[in-house]
Amino acid sequence: MAQQKATNITWHEAVVTAEDREKLLNQKGCVIWFTGLSGSGKSTLANAVGQVLHQQQHHTYVLDGDNVRHGLNKNLGFSPADREENIRRIGEVAKLFADAGTIVLTAFISPYRTDRDQARALIADGRFVEVFVDCPLEVCEERDTKGLYKKARAGEIKEFTGISAPYEPPLNPEVTVNTAALSIEECAQAVVMVLIKAGLVPAGN
Ligand code: ADX
Repeated sequence: MAQQKATNITWHEAVVTAEDREKLLNQKGCVIWFTGLSGSGKSTLANAVGQVLHQQQHHTYVLDGDNVRHGLNKNLGFSPADREENIRRIGEVAKLFADAGTIVLTAFISPYRTDRDQARALIADGRFVEVFVDCPLEVCEERDTKGLYKKARAGEIKEFTGISAPYEPPLNPEVTVNTAALSIEECAQAVVMVLIKAGLVPAGN
């Protein structure tokens, strides 16, 4: 749990409300949270879903693990505590984006259930969609798009998820997609269908 260090601070209500922004944008701000092993296809899928929604005139934004770790979270590594802080910050950033009216798509391994549940708890009911990007470790390792599994097996990278650090699969995700069995387009469609069913985006516009 992050410690509250700041004292003597007062919440200031915004004049333009979240509701006002949603009316302007004609959409509901929400968080689509992709979780899965490195190389499972989270970023590719988040971008594919973002593209489908963008083409349907929705305002979207992808928050990607590797990218965020170049800036906001550059001071965090991969220990359990640093991963927890990584996900805590992303949860808060995603909350701000959703409050701004954006459909935010996050692509982080987010290996710990508790950390994902804490991110969920920040978002209004029905506005957080957890997508389990389910891809067997063997397939991720076979793909090894970044060459990191090879390094992890050789002991050159410590605490690597799936090899020397845990991954806790979601117990009740809103949707599970198997990127080893289906194409990215098929997986993206499955996610979009769930967003439509959840009333987050309108059907077939
Ligand atoms: S998370 O576990 O804290 O959610 P995050 O999604 O931000 O991870 O970053 C994962 C990315 O960092 C991986 O896709 C990979 O490119 C890189 N990476 C570097 N070291 C590790 C490691 N020890 N474990 C997992 N990913 C790592």
